[in-house]
Amino acid sequence: MLAVGFGLLGLGILPSVDNPTPARALDLGANSIDNPTSIWVVVNKARPLNPIKYKPVDLVVPGFGPLNANPYQHSMRRDVAAAAEGLAKSMQKAGKGRLVIQSAYRSYNTQKSVHDRQVSRFGLAAGEALAARPGYSEHQTGLAIDVSARDQGCQIRVCFGGTKAGAWLKANAHRWGFIIRYPQNATAVTGYQYEPWHLRYVGIELATDMKQKSISTLEKYFGLPSAPKYP
Ligand code: DAL
Ligand code: ZN
Repeated sequence: MLAVGFGLLGLGILPSVDNPTPARALDLGANSIDNPTSIWVVVNKARPLNPIKYKPVDLVVPGFGPLNANPYQHSMRRDVAAAAEGLAKSMQKAGKGRLVIQSAYRSYNTQKSVHDRQVSRFGLAAGEALAARPGYSEHQTGLAIDVSARDQGCQIRVCFGGTKAGAWLKANAHRWGFIIRYPQNATAVTGYQYEPWHLRYVGIELATDMKQKSISTLEKYFGLPSAPKYP
């Protein structure tokens, strides 16, 4: 067994100190970045959803059992619900708090109200650094969730990134297939301010690869142009 292990190590198949990642690279063509049903879809100010009023077909409203992580009964795609449950369980087990889903799937019309509200509150520039126009939001794909942690404050605020839950999510969300989609200091790339609460499901393989390569945005990972504003 030991000999086999060393043999595989020599071939670069098993991880080692020099080569901590498995040898096989992620196939960047494995999933579409254009199709709104794809877990790798890239949506930003230059890449609206097509069709613009897209609605996922597999939305569910998870209860999360005793975790009660979805008290406002938000809907999300089935795979996202399963991943979010794993994430919430693990966060609680690690002693980092109890996850609460603050927002998840938003229809085209709901996104329109969210965008209108933020723009009237903060003005066009600041409002649009926080809320996407309808047809341009990851929330419309059913793959994004906004989260907070019970009793840790900073709900949907930049300071959430500094809470114990926020810090844990930054370090661990990839293990359930989530990325912090709008990281710090990436507004020129993503078009949005730092949103430590906005988790985007991309699947474990991609989220882990991004983490291992220290690439923090989907734009950079897929070699897409930055999208600071609408065309
Ligand atoms: N808050 C994100 C950018 C959205 O509105 O989709
Ligand atoms: Zn969000």
